[in-house]
Amino acid sequence: MTTITFVKDKNGKEVITEVVAANGSNLREKALQNNVDIYKLKGKLTNCGGVGQCSTCIVDIVEGMENLSPRTDFEQKRLGKKPDSYRLSCQTVVKGPITVRTKP
Ligand code: FES
Repeated sequence: MTTITFVKDKNGKEVITEVVAANGSNLREKALQNNVDIYKLKGKLTNCGGVGQCSTCIVDIVEGMENLSPRTDFEQKRLGKKPDSYRLSCQTVVKGPITVRTKP
């Protein structure tokens, strides 16, 4: 088991919630299961349901990048110009403690 800390700010100080997750959990699913809002308005209306097609589930990993699965090919294409810490939550598998900024 591990912990995922969802925060609002880049410094990780404004904590939204902290959740316990099994190693191997999908980051988007853990957010939704715990009522953490990861989508901006467009994403709320048009997200692909977590199949890696829409790019609206972007989050910023504040701490713990080393505890995640590597970027998928789709993420590489869609996030190419974004900071390395940005991930598509539906494509991200959690393997250890992380801190995640929502709606970067
Ligand atoms: S929910 Fe569509 S790419 Fe993640």
